[in-house]
Amino acid sequence: MSEYNIALIPGDGIGPEVVAQGVKVLEKLAQISTLNFNFQEFPLGADHYLSTGELISPETKQDLADFDALYLGAVGDPRVKPGVLEHGILLDLRFSFDMYINLRPVKLLMEKFTPLKDTSPEDIDMLVVRENTEGLYAGSGGFLKKDTPQEVAVQEMINTYHGVERVIRYAYEYAARKEGKLTLCDKCNVLEYAHDLWQRVYKKVGEDFPAVEQDHILVDAMTMKMVRNPEIFDVVVTCNMFGDIITDLGAEIQGGMGLAVSGNINPEGVSMFEPVHGSAPDIAGEGKANPTAALLAAAMMVEVLGHRKEAEKIEKAVNNALTAGKTTEDMGGRLSTSEAGDYICSILE
Ligand code: NAD
Ligand code: IPM
Ligand code: MN
Repeated sequence: MSEYNIALIPGDGIGPEVVAQGVKVLEKLAQISTLNFNFQEFPLGADHYLSTGELISPETKQDLADFDALYLGAVGDPRVKPGVLEHGILLDLRFSFDMYINLRPVKLLMEKFTPLKDTSPEDIDMLVVRENTEGLYAGSGGFLKKDTPQEVAVQEMINTYHGVERVIRYAYEYAARKEGKLTLCDKCNVLEYAHDLWQRVYKKVGEDFPAVEQDHILVDAMTMKMVRNPEIFDVVVTCNMFGDIITDLGAEIQGGMGLAVSGNINPEGVSMFEPVHGSAPDIAGEGKANPTAALLAAAMMVEVLGHRKEAEKIEKAVNNALTAGKTTEDMGGRLSTSEAGDYICSILE
């Protein structure tokens, strides 16, 4: 019996709706395996912030450090200025726990899910390894002469050798295990300092992985190729900002935001699993949210905790539900969020 303590951060909007399905499915998985999960919920998000003024306290962070993994829905609420909850909760967790790898698989299950024509599941099967603690997200910068016509706003892109090296090395290791190719996606033709560092580190670390085929693409061409020739990608490593953008595109080519998964990994510490999508205020509270991304995030969590076979059970059930059309409206089905979760529990084996 392996027992895990999981911290739940349902968050805002559709976050709680999809996390509830993840919990149901993990509880069902516990019944049919030797895994056991203890859940504790942390009510972080807009309501907590609006009623207490607090985003996440140092004590809460200390509590979270004792969990085996964190499972997050989404944060962001129209009542709160954009960025406050996103920075104050999500990015704070990623940075405080040094979750320096963001794993975002892009995989097409059935041809009919992709908006791309003549594109089959063999064509779309890639993994984006996104740097998750630096770049334009580091929070370095400031205003000069704010609220005047001469205002200057600076947002610096931070790239440390340490930060770039560890994410590139992780990506090479991953590509080596898959006997695959590693594509570096950057903008070295313009960012002559920041992405010169990425280029040099990519080549240097590559010397340790002679079996991994190397490849490079500029980020603008990346978006074009993801649409036109997605089959050329295997493992892709990129900076924080580009990784954010190309994985929404990745989500769409595999069938939509309801399907895309994100693992914020600290290989030496606590990791956090979440859907790529946000709190979707446009559909929150209507039972329309697709729980698939959250369920696949739960599967990734189970895998990272060391249980590949059990993770596969969730993936298989999710895939079978999608194939059978037992899905939410966004995927052409008729089920509510909760019914979709129940269906997956019913076929989990
Ligand atoms: P979003 O991902 O929330 O929604 C984009 C579109 O996709 C919407 O039309 C939404 O209805 C749809 N969608 C998203 N998830 C879906 C699902 N599971 N099932 C069906 N449809 C789904 O992005 P947004 O609208 O740009 O952002 C909304 C809020 O979420 C903002 O406050 C943003 O900052 C925040 N956000 C949070 C996270 C996170 O916490 N990880 C990620 C992205 C955005
Ligand atoms: C994501 C989100 C976050 C990001 C936001 C909400 C801070 O878009 O997880 O993709 O930009 O990383
Ligand atoms: Mn994003």
